[in-house]
Amino acid sequence: MYDFLKYKNVAIRYRATGKGRAVVLLHGFLENSSMWNELVVHLSKQYRVVCIDLLGHGKSGNLGYIHTMEAQAQLVKAVLRHLRLRKYILVGHSMGGYISLAFAEMYPQSVRGLCLMNSTAMADSEEKKASRNRAIKAVKHNYKTFVRIAIPSLFAEENRSAFKSEIIQHTNEALKLSRQGIIASLEGMKIRKDRTALLKLITFQKFMIIGKKDPILIPAMLMKQVQYTNTKIIELPGGHMSHIENKETFVNAIKEFVCTCN
Ligand code: MLT
Repeated sequence: MYDFLKYKNVAIRYRATGKGRAVVLLHGFLENSSMWNELVVHLSKQYRVVCIDLLGHGKSGNLGYIHTMEAQAQLVKAVLRHLRLRKYILVGHSMGGYISLAFAEMYPQSVRGLCLMNSTAMADSEEKKASRNRAIKAVKHNYKTFVRIAIPSLFAEENRSAFKSEIIQHTNEALKLSRQGIIASLEGMKIRKDRTALLKLITFQKFMIIGKKDPILIPAMLMKQVQYTNTKIIELPGGHMSHIENKETFVNAIKEFVCTCN
């Protein structure tokens, strides 16, 4: 069951299920907390699992016109304080991973473990920033077309027909988002800090899930950034949507990782 928290006058939807150590699941851009439904079923048998609709996503509202990764991390902290949780394991999908890293930098004492799932600690390159600007223009012009093009392109090309119904479902969810929320995330991701050095500094358990055919991230660059950081990695054969494209392996990998976090 979902609950709502009023945060800075904005309604935030979240869900806390199960008992035990806290595991916090942060969705990616154009997603919402329902992406974790299946994982929650598995984890909540042993853990307290918290899923949050991030600013501008799902049933949560917008807080201005730029949702920085730090603002999102502050929101996550507010929900966790409200739930009286003090230490947690963070799992972040893509943008959720950027937010997890911002969170780890801001509140290092509260983190037991961090999983970057199809995500990166690097900032946007100049080329990526330019493509964000083009995306913002496209969203302003017609955000529905933008969403319809963006969602299939998260999957590995060879998986797009096999996961057609998941793509339709995901697209329909994303079409419910506001134009303002979509733009605020694109602006926030565009100006996010490079946190590759942080990966070396933090000492808690780190885990990275890489999609070998991820159309958004370059696996070789992900491998390079985790070198000498003591981060465990797993490479999966699909694209950016490991929780869909490699469901079973993904669930098992997360369960195993969570188990190793003290
Ligand atoms: C996401 O899935 O959260 C986004 O594709 C991340 C990004 O655009 O950098």
